[in-house]
Amino acid sequence: MRERFVVANWKVNKTCQEAQAYGRELKDHAANFAAQVRCIIAPPATALMTLRKALGDSPVQLCAQNIYPQDFGAFTGEVSAPLVAEAGASYTLVGHSERRALCAETSEHTALKLQAAARSGLCPILCVGESAQDRASGSTFDVVNTQLRVGCEAYLAGNLGPLMVAYEPLWAIGTGKTPEPKDCEAVHQVLATTLRQLTTDRSQQVPLLYGGSVTAANVAGFVAQPHVDGVLVGGASLKLVSLLAIVAAIAP
Ligand code: PGA
Repeated sequence: MRERFVVANWKVNKTCQEAQAYGRELKDHAANFAAQVRCIIAPPATALMTLRKALGDSPVQLCAQNIYPQDFGAFTGEVSAPLVAEAGASYTLVGHSERRALCAETSEHTALKLQAAARSGLCPILCVGESAQDRASGSTFDVVNTQLRVGCEAYLAGNLGPLMVAYEPLWAIGTGKTPEPKDCEAVHQVLATTLRQLTTDRSQQVPLLYGGSVTAANVAGFVAQPHVDGVLVGGASLKLVSLLAIVAAIAP
């Protein structure tokens, strides 16, 4: 049976207190789906440790939303891979489109973060996606392929560790708009082909997630596609009841 992934990206939402309440309740439900769905929560960095404690020994895993390429030093305001790993993260998002747009992050910078993740034993989740303009001009495949290649070529060539990739079209994030599942599958097929070319370890599996306005109502259509292994969920993950509905919709 193919493993399914649900990654919840809380962005800049939830205090430690709110994260604790969510985590305690999620822990009570986790045993019901853990065999079919790997559930990963990406809270703000401030809530990682509180959430890890609230989840106790439950199989739910944690993800940082970002890391800095350097481990320690004079980088005021940043968090780094060893810090989030100590706080309970097993994964980190890298290259989320909000960071590319708001913090001027480039694919070259993202590539350095993958290496930092590897040094601390974190699995990076590399985010790629095209803008509405890219899609309209027919350059979706080129844009995501370039982001993918520049982002993870060195990481895969060096066989540095596990990897996940999330396809998140910018125009679908937080808008309620989504691609048709078959159009999403077409992009995932392109990503899978490129990943096969870049991967040196032939046995390495790179799960491919779809993200952008995922809800319990539309998730099944995406994960029914052969190259969609799971979803990255923003807004619809903030209420636990809605996250659990998404998990229930894809648990085979
Ligand atoms: P959304 O966000 O589900 O609210 O569209 C997804 C994301 O940005 O990861």
